[in-house]
Amino acid sequence: MNTLNQQTALEQAARKHTKDSHALGGDAGRLDHFYRGWASSYDLGLADGYCGRMIAAEMAAAVQTAYLARHRTAMAILDAGCGTGPVGVELESLRFRLIDGFDLSEEMAEKAQQTRAYRNVRGDVDLIGLPSDYFRASYDLTVCCGVFTLGHVGPDGLRELARVTRSNGFVIASDRKRYAEATSFEDHVRLLQDEGVLIPAQYLRNGRYAADEDAHCWVLADAQKDQSNKRTGCDQATSYR
Ligand SMILES: C[S@@+](CC[C@H](N)C(=O)[O-])C[C@H]1O[C@@H](n2cnc3c(N)ncnc32)[C@H](O)[C@@H]1O
Repeated sequence: MNTLNQQTALEQAARKHTKDSHALGGDAGRLDHFYRGWASSYDLGLADGYCGRMIAAEMAAAVQTAYLARHRTAMAILDAGCGTGPVGVELESLRFRLIDGFDLSEEMAEKAQQTRAYRNVRGDVDLIGLPSDYFRASYDLTVCCGVFTLGHVGPDGLRELARVTRSNGFVIASDRKRYAEATSFEDHVRLLQDEGVLIPAQYLRNGRYAADEDAHCWVLADAQKDQSNKRTGCDQATSYR
C-alpha cells in the first residue's frame, strides 16, 4: 500500500472509531475498554482535519491575553479528558508550561505523558466525580476538548470543571454540534449561569472541529467560589461581562 492509501486507510479507521465511540452511552466501563483498544493508533488518525485541539488551545491563549495578566508560563491549566495529549501539545506550543491532564483511560493518559507537554498526567480518573483532594479549585484555566461528545460525558460534567477551576478562572469546552442539539447543552449553560456557577464569556459557534462534524467552543468564567478563595496575584476577570 502506498503512503497516500495508508493515510486514507488510517483516516477511515479513525472515522469509524469516532462513530463507534458515539454509541457507548456514556458508560465509563465501556469507554475505558474502547479507548484502551484505540490508544495506540489514536494519533495516527489525527491528521484527519482535527482542528478542534488548536481552537481549544488558541481560545485558552486568547483568554489569558485578554483577561488574565499572570504570565502564561505560570498559569496552571488542566486538560480534562486529555486523551493522548493533542491539546496539551498545542498549549505547550503556545508557551503554556504548567499543564496537567487526566483521562478515564490509563492507556490514553500514558500516551499524553509521553508527549512531555504535561507537568502531570493521571489515568483512571472519571470527570464525573473527580477526586476532590487532588484537583480542588486550583486551575486558572480548565480545557475540555472532545469529551462533550455523543456517548461520552453529559453536560453536567461542566459542574465538575467549574469545581476544579479557581474563582475568576475560566473553563473552555468544545461541544460537537449533534451532541449540543441532542443534550440541549446551551440550556445547561444557561442553568449554570442562573445558578451563578459559570458565566458565558465567549462563544465560538459552528467552528471547524473534525472532518466529520463542526463544533461550538464555549469560554465560561468561573464565578462560583467565594472571593476569599482568590489567590494573590490572580486578576479579576470581569471585563467580559
Ligand atoms: C475523543 S477523545 C478526546 C481526547 C482529547 N481531549 C483530544 O482532544 O483528542 C475523548 C476522551 O475522553 C475520555 N473520557 C471519556 N469519558 C470520560 C470521563 N468520564 N472522564 C474522563 N475522561 C473521559 C476518553 O477516555 C478519551 O480519551
